[in-house]
Amino acid sequence: MSGNELQYIEKVFESNYIAPLGEYVDKFEESIKIYTGATHALATSSGTAAIHLALRVLGIGTGDDVLASTFTFIGSVNAILYQNANPVFIDSDNESWNLSPTLLNQYLRECKRKPKALILTHLYGMSADIEKIAEICKFHGIYLIEDAAESLGATFHRKHTGTFGDFGVYSFNGNKILTTSGGGMLVTNNKEWRNKALFYATQAKEPCVHYEHNEYGYNYRMSNILAAIGVAQMEVIEERVNKKRQIFEWYKEELSDINEITLMPELENSRGNRWLTALIFEKSDPIKVMKALESINVESRPLWKPMHLQPLFQGRQKYVDGTSEKLYEKGLCLASSTTMLKNDVKMICQTIKEYL
Ligand SMILES: Cc1ncc(COP(=O)(O)O)c(C=O)c1O
Repeated sequence: MSGNELQYIEKVFESNYIAPLGEYVDKFEESIKIYTGATHALATSSGTAAIHLALRVLGIGTGDDVLASTFTFIGSVNAILYQNANPVFIDSDNESWNLSPTLLNQYLRECKRKPKALILTHLYGMSADIEKIAEICKFHGIYLIEDAAESLGATFHRKHTGTFGDFGVYSFNGNKILTTSGGGMLVTNNKEWRNKALFYATQAKEPCVHYEHNEYGYNYRMSNILAAIGVAQMEVIEERVNKKRQIFEWYKEELSDINEITLMPELENSRGNRWLTALIFEKSDPIKVMKALESINVESRPLWKPMHLQPLFQGRQKYVDGTSEKLYEKGLCLASSTTMLKNDVKMICQTIKEYL
């Protein structure tokens, strides 16, 4: 927490307005718009809900193909299933570890059935090659939803991730760079779409005095209490990004003499938020390194298991070349909390070196 959260929560209680709308929901949306440059924002109960709303507003439904980064967390793609659509997983490249624009373009040239949309993830807070990807989507006439759940504060050519596509999504889940305990934000430059998303997020109530429904909706709005936390968190977003980047630099410095380690790259002209410091080992088994860290009570985690390898998606379409599989087999996320000190990083790196 940053310091002002309780004060703002108290104001919410004083107002006796703790519904999933209110002054702080508006303020939180406003702060995201000002910070990211997005024209419209909608605070939601989670990032997953925001992705679902984007698909629903874009009219994606039964039988539609939706492309998605395979190297991501399941929250990126669950909503494709909610809509009875077909996920098609596209692999990463070595330059960014994010979705490969080359594979995307190849797939779109070869495919027999044109997909409706792409859900593109900016993994671990690092920008994908987003300008190229946005251009490809435009050329082929498919919608672009940016899953920036992990990348609030990350930019490409100084423009915020989440603002290149038709929709962008941020998450404020407990583990994210900013948190409201749980929550999300949908951003777009299209006012009509934002209004439609609000309509679906509030049970699709028609504008009548009584409760009238022509369509089904969801209960996906954010509580005024959680939005108060979000407003206080937004006051320290740049501080958090700088600290995360500092932690990454400490790791880089401490591990620089180990040849078999490669850290997650940052594309030229981009600035990641370095949400988690991620790396791969050329020779060593990352799970054994993880166990060595566990022995000093330090958590680390494997990189996300690609979606096309998940049992849930067995038999689904994929367009892959082995890049994300290799990253998954060799990779590890290191402890990256903004409360960490240089000595914590030193101790972790010492343990890794001793194990190696
Ligand atoms: C890449 C990615 N996409 C989507 C989500 C889903 O966000 P939420 O947990 O807010 O539903 C998360 C995080 O949880 C994520 O890391």
